[in-house]
Amino acid sequence: MRLLGLCGSTRTGSWNRALLDAAAELAPAGVTIEPWDLRRLPMYDDDIRLAGFPAEVVAFREAVRAADGLVFATPEYNRSLPTILKNAIDWASRAPDQPFNGKKAAIMTASNGALGGALANHHLRQVLVYLNVFVLPGPEVMVGLSPTKFKDGRLADEPTREAVRRHMAALASFARA
Ligand SMILES: Cc1cc2nc3c(=O)[nH]c(=O)nc-3n(C[C@H](O)[C@H](O)[C@H](O)COP(=O)(O)O)c2cc1C
Repeated sequence: MRLLGLCGSTRTGSWNRALLDAAAELAPAGVTIEPWDLRRLPMYDDDIRLAGFPAEVVAFREAVRAADGLVFATPEYNRSLPTILKNAIDWASRAPDQPFNGKKAAIMTASNGALGGALANHHLRQVLVYLNVFVLPGPEVMVGLSPTKFKDGRLADEPTREAVRRHMAALASFARA
């Protein structure tokens, strides 16, 4: 099973990048996560779309289409998802044959704050449901107080690692169903 990993942060030392790395490490045997760097995409512009999707947009849409499932790991920006992630979703959402249709996905969030990016988690869920993505209901992964959970760029907190392990096992069964 090949999953596409989408990270909402570009920050050096990103907690969410480390969370995606942990998901790849803790996923069941036979499940891989291939990250796609969202910085490759231009800013959404409907005039550009009408002139034809740029090559990187075509590549992103194909990566979504080819994946057996999607794994998001994102910070919360102002109680929502970061622009870079929304931008990617907006590009992929346009007709024809929008590639999110019918995909299975899991959402993880990590934040410095105590709420673990819960509002971004649910805001992203709302956007994906509109695009007919089936989002894993649970077990949820919302990592609060991130500086206490990660060490040397790695998810170190054992209860959180166990939550990620269960999350990935649930996504694998959900995507197979
Ligand atoms: C523009 C901006 C807005 C933010 N808004 C929120 C917020 O609404 N809620 C929250 O918990 N953290 C917020 N944060 C803090 C992020 O959770 C924190 O920077 C986190 O480490 C980002 O994830 P990363 O380590 O993967 O880059 C915000 C950060 C930025 C840069």
